[in-house]
Amino acid sequence: MAAIMTSLFAMVKSGDHILLQHDLYGGTHHAALNEFGRYGIEHSMVDVSDLKTFEKAIRKNTKVIYVETPSNPLLKITDLAAVARIAKNHGIVTIIDNTFASPVNQNPIDFGIDVVTHSGTKYIGGHSDICCGAMVSSKKLTEKIKQSAMHFGGSLDAQSCYLVERSLKTIVLRVKQQNENALALAKFLEGESKIGGVYYPGLKNHPGHYIARKQMPGGFGGMLSFEVKGDPDKFIKKLKYIKRAISLGGVESTITSPVKTSHAKLTAAERKHVGKKIKK
Ligand SMILES: Cc1ncc(COP(=O)(O)O)c(C=O)c1O
Repeated sequence: MAAIMTSLFAMVKSGDHILLQHDLYGGTHHAALNEFGRYGIEHSMVDVSDLKTFEKAIRKNTKVIYVETPSNPLLKITDLAAVARIAKNHGIVTIIDNTFASPVNQNPIDFGIDVVTHSGTKYIGGHSDICCGAMVSSKKLTEKIKQSAMHFGGSLDAQSCYLVERSLKTIVLRVKQQNENALALAKFLEGESKIGGVYYPGLKNHPGHYIARKQMPGGFGGMLSFEVKGDPDKFIKKLKYIKRAISLGGVESTITSPVKTSHAKLTAAERKHVGKKIKK
C-alpha cells in the first residue's frame, strides 16, 4: 500500500482529480474513499470495461488514471493499451497495480502505462514471510515518487531486502507453476455442478480472455475466484490441503472469502455494484 499510495500522492495536489477503475483491491478502494478527500483531492471510480464512459469521466483537473488488472477478486481484465492511449491524449499519468499478474506475466510499460506498482508481499516475496512493495517507472517519474517516498517513510528494512533478493531468484519458476496450477484448477471447477461461476482470465469464456492473451504473454496468474452454491465458510472448512489465509502469491495454496477479508470494508451496495457481470 505504501508503493501505491506514495505513487498516487506524488502525482497530485489539492484540487486535482484521480480517476480509478471501480473494481479494485478492497484496501485501495477504502484508502481512496478515506484519504483523498481529506487532502482536497477529488476522485471517481468508474467501470473501465466500458471505455467510452470511462473516458467521459475524465475532468479538466484529472491528473492520474489508476487501474488494476487482473482485478482483485473478480479477475476482470482492463485493456492497458486502450487506457494508456486515452490517458496520453489527455496528458494524464497512468498508474497500475500489477500485483495479481506479477512481473513475470505482465509488463504494463510495454503497453504504454507510466507507473507500475506491486504488492511485493505476494508473488515477489513468494513465501508469505515479508511485507513489501515496489514501483517501476521512467527515471523522471521514479525520481518524483522517490522524493515522496522519503517524506512518507515507506522504506524496507535490511532483512526484508535480503529476503526479497532470495525470492527473486525463483520468481519465474514459481509463477510459471502457479499459472499452470491455477489454469488446471479453473478448468476443473468449471465442470463442477456445485460451483456457480469461475473467474480466471485463462479460461476461453472469460470476457477479458482475448485482451489478457495479448497483455499477459507470460501466463494468466495463480489467482482465481469462484462462487459456491451454498455456504462458502462450510466449503472452506472442508478443504483438506488448502488453508484459509488472507494473503496470496506464496508457495502454498490458500483461500479466502473476500467479503470477510479484503473487501469487508465495502458496503453491500458497493460490492454489488463492482461485482455486476461484465459483457463479453
Ligand atoms: C491487488 C492488491 N494490491 C495491493 C495489496 C496490498 O498489499 P500489501 O499488503 O503488501 O500492502 C493487496 C493485498 O492483498 C492486493 O491484493
